[in-house]
Amino acid sequence: MITMTFKRILLEEWFDKYQFEVDYDIGESGVKFFKLGQLDLDLDNVELRYTQHLGNPELRKVIAFFYENLTWQNVAVTTGAAESIFSIMASLTNKKDHLIVECPNYPSFWYIPQSLERQMELFFLEFEEKFQPTLETLTGMIKPNTKLICLTHPNNPTGSVITEKWLRQIIEIIEERQIYLLMDETYRDLTFSDPLPPAASLSSNVISVSTMSKVFGVPGIRIGWTASLDESIIQGLLKVREQTTICNSALNEAIALQLLQKKDKLLVDILHRVKSNYKIVEDWMKNQENLEMIPPEGGVTCFPRFKDSTEKLCRFLVEKYRTFTVPGYCFNMDSFFRIGFGGESEELKSGLEKLDLAIDEI
Ligand SMILES: Cc1ncc(COP(=O)(O)O)c(C=O)c1O
Repeated sequence: MITMTFKRILLEEWFDKYQFEVDYDIGESGVKFFKLGQLDLDLDNVELRYTQHLGNPELRKVIAFFYENLTWQNVAVTTGAAESIFSIMASLTNKKDHLIVECPNYPSFWYIPQSLERQMELFFLEFEEKFQPTLETLTGMIKPNTKLICLTHPNNPTGSVITEKWLRQIIEIIEERQIYLLMDETYRDLTFSDPLPPAASLSSNVISVSTMSKVFGVPGIRIGWTASLDESIIQGLLKVREQTTICNSALNEAIALQLLQKKDKLLVDILHRVKSNYKIVEDWMKNQENLEMIPPEGGVTCFPRFKDSTEKLCRFLVEKYRTFTVPGYCFNMDSFFRIGFGGESEELKSGLEKLDLAIDEI
């Protein structure tokens, strides 16, 4: 008999079942998807060959430039952040190692260690603490065999952002104990006030992971990256990659490169739209008697708490009103559900109106 430790991810099942069928998508965790023709790219001369295993050096250089003291050799370009997370966990940890994973979070963070049969514990963010991690709770969970701590800030789905002071404190602790911190910075460029420093620049015990998927609205190109001052992390990832995806798509690397070369210009419009969309959610929340919410400080998602079953609410909303949100059971937190505000403003307004109707009827 074959032992299968890989299970389907509840969040991805929910997406597969509903997201492609709806009229109003207010559950997605990125900005509005771009069409290729909207991006003004020059792709005619892209050679459709295998690329270097760790990614196109020019693209690695552009990414390294975001981190003060890193060179292109400290960067690996991967098939989305998803491949980075998998490869880091697979190469850095073994079955005797313990991992601490912040929750709620992008669910792969706990599915991958479970699939790889690592010892993993969830570290929950609490509504009562404004979804801010507490240092005492986190350090209390560290064991002699803890190898990796995984945090995501701005957080998906809560939108919470740790302070720079907190980040520096946890880095001090992991350095003392020779633990690694995987910091998922997917939403860093969408922080509403000053962003945190890119964490990989602060210590060789930190691994930064990020992606083109959410901020730039191009998840379909499947390009993400890992950055670390510790080159053995990049070399470890390479060994996993050679046995899985081999290299990235040449076409998708070219798209990522051209977009990142005009990153600052693109970000002005994107951040402006995200902030004005959040205002729509903020105003809408003022009239909600059955919901409570911690205002997000970055990203494109928020995580309100509902008095009744959120699975019932989200299923009713999608089946009756063709409006897509994400129930909290996908994040191990049943009383909450995710609203995404990265899309078109009109779609967001209509989706929220449908959500009002669904809440009344439930
Ligand atoms: C915080 C976070 N990290 C990583 C990912 C994976 O992104 P991708 O593999 O598309 O780059 C997601 C996707 O939802 C996410 O929300």
